[in-house]
Amino acid sequence: MIRYLAVEGIDGAGKSTVARELAAELSRLGHRVTQVREPGGTPVGESIREILLGLGHDLDHWTEAMLFAAARAQLAATVIAPALARGDLVVSDRSYYSSLAYQGGGRGLGIDVVRQVNETGLRGVVPDLIVLLRLDAESGFAREDERDRISSEGIELQHRVAAAYDSLAAAEPDRFVVVDATLPIADIVAAVVAVMEQLR
Ligand code: TYD
Repeated sequence: MIRYLAVEGIDGAGKSTVARELAAELSRLGHRVTQVREPGGTPVGESIREILLGLGHDLDHWTEAMLFAAARAQLAATVIAPALARGDLVVSDRSYYSSLAYQGGGRGLGIDVVRQVNETGLRGVVPDLIVLLRLDAESGFAREDERDRISSEGIELQHRVAAAYDSLAAAEPDRFVVVDATLPIADIVAAVVAVMEQLR
């Protein structure tokens, strides 16, 4: 059964809107829903978010990866695990799959080692389903309006991240629902809800 789902994609794919609309639809269907976002979602995580995304910092790639993992461990322990324990559905805007794609693939640190670091911190609190909003890197880059430290780096990074997401989805077809990000939001939400119903 799907209890924790995460929306993923390159910058500009429209994850935040889909996560919000999906959470609203699941509430309308009678579920109690906890909505979170990464990086952030806790006071400590929001402070780490400022370090990660602020334009002034020159972060080493491993420092970056560890800070994402640290913010995520805090969110899993203090928000997501308690929400799941009280029976809520959790809808997350990004998850550790973002780190696999951006730090593992995009930065070239390696997906397996980034997975290990993150799963160590998460202690089993991992998404049951990943909704991958698929978009080509050029369109995403053009659609992104407010650029942070990572999304402002340029199109090459976005190409590598998009390729990493595709290979993650191919390697774990049971965990991924891959959706065309250019579809109307309502269609995307309906497709995801249909998959969740099927997997009940
Ligand atoms: P996000 O807040 O989702 O930004 P946006 O809504 O503009 O897409 O994420 C901020 C940036 O952080 C984005 O470029 C993706 C990046 N990121 C990583 O590189 N690794 C991670 O683990 C996460 C969660 C995000």
